[in-house]
Amino acid sequence: MRFEVWTRALAAAPVDCLIVGVFDNGELSDGAREIDARIGRRLSAAVKRGDFAGRLAETQLLIDVTGIRASRVLLVGQGTKSALDRKTWRRALQAAIAALLRTRIARVGIALSRPATAVMDDYRLGRSVAEFTAAALYRTNDLKSARKPKLPALNQVWVTGIGASGVLGARRGLKQGEAIGVGNRTLRDLANLPSNVCTPSYLAAEAKRIAKRYRSMRVRVLDLAAIKREKMGCFLAVAQGSDQPPRFIILQHRGGKPGAAPVVLVGKGITFDTGGISLKDPPGMDEMKFDMTGAAAVLAALAVAGELALPMNLIGLVAACENMPSGRAIKPGDIVTSASGQTVEILNTDAEGRLILCDALHYARRFKPAAVVDIATLTGACVVALGAHHTGVMGNDEELARQLVECGVRADDRAWQLPLTEEYGEQLKSNFADMANVAGRDGGAITAAAFLGKYTRGLRWAHMDIAGTAYLGGAQKGSTGRPIGLLAEFLIRRAAR
Ligand code: BES
Ligand code: MN
Ligand code: ZN
Repeated sequence: MRFEVWTRALAAAPVDCLIVGVFDNGELSDGAREIDARIGRRLSAAVKRGDFAGRLAETQLLIDVTGIRASRVLLVGQGTKSALDRKTWRRALQAAIAALLRTRIARVGIALSRPATAVMDDYRLGRSVAEFTAAALYRTNDLKSARKPKLPALNQVWVTGIGASGVLGARRGLKQGEAIGVGNRTLRDLANLPSNVCTPSYLAAEAKRIAKRYRSMRVRVLDLAAIKREKMGCFLAVAQGSDQPPRFIILQHRGGKPGAAPVVLVGKGITFDTGGISLKDPPGMDEMKFDMTGAAAVLAALAVAGELALPMNLIGLVAACENMPSGRAIKPGDIVTSASGQTVEILNTDAEGRLILCDALHYARRFKPAAVVDIATLTGACVVALGAHHTGVMGNDEELARQLVECGVRADDRAWQLPLTEEYGEQLKSNFADMANVAGRDGGAITAAAFLGKYTRGLRWAHMDIAGTAYLGGAQKGSTGRPIGLLAEFLIRRAAR
């Protein structure tokens, strides 16, 4: 896909189709008004006749257009003008692209009305166009045996309505949006794969493929013996029930000054979560192949950093294994010793995410990180609390948590902070070990974070629970690509400061 900036008259744009907006009061977008007169007032006529109402995401393709260079115009409803914001703008763009993908149109110019420049300046416009186009073009790497449908013809997207002074910003936005698009694809491809393909070793091989693509990167993969040498007793306890050997992945992007404190991202890489001996109910269990989305997000975020050669030091850590019941599996009541030396009574083998993360978080200490952020499909309780709309954010550093929430707003990939105060940690008391791995049903998303908090003292740390936002179920089953938008925003801003 080629992304370009067009600064001159829309009528001269070298495209096959112009995408213009109409509001639900019949008002034309600036772009639509600009070309209306040139094409014999076909747009205002269509609206006046009632052929097009401008309802949000409504589309209509006009063909055989004469008077401008493009031979087609795609009308897109932008809804109520006063409600125009990044979200409705995105819905209109997505609808436009979906409509185009049903045609053989190759080159398009986007001339939708955009929200006020405070919300979307030229940079943000470029970035959003590239980012959302890539996301809309994503197709699942399905394993269906039927012949694949033809690839879409769309191969050039022009952003229009940019003044001369905005060109550089728009180009920078397009470039970053494309990189985030790569991240989006990386994340979703990994997350959508079934667990018999996407094993811990597969994740490690993917990390090596990513490392090879960028000069800034180094990768190390710890196998079972090396993980034992690190004394990651909690991680090993989860892994021991599976015939698939665990992997611990260290993917490093060295874009900053040597010695500058890195940001460390830590991902939960449970390639399948059966619950172990505390076995899950059968309905919907297939969705537990998505339980490695945190790991996929970490690898994808590193890919974005590599694509953009971000001037920062960034380290991705992934603990990858399966959670299986077997004759060798951990059993409720078993006590194990984490890499930090703290002992854990495993009361529920289905609370495995925190067990692998606590050893990975401890491993992060050696890098003397500026900040540590873990990303995990950690608790069903977070889904109960926030649904599919917000990622849960918790941590021991208010400023870091606040930054993540703010990045979510800006990237339209929202997160909400939950209160991680001391009381929650007290619920993890065990009669036999330093702590238990579960604390009852109430406040489950926060007690899980409180468990991780016992391994991150002295670090600037935040935890993102993506259990509700990582994937959709039902007819639209599949990875959403979240939270790559939020993470990319966080890293790009961090690298710029
Ligand atoms: N992977 C699950 C959490 C999850 C649930 C993710 C639903 C996505 C959708 C996690 O390992 C888990 O099983 N958590 C338990 C914890 C409980 C045993 C304390 C849960 O949420 O039920
Ligand atoms: Mn589980
Ligand atoms: Zn899990």
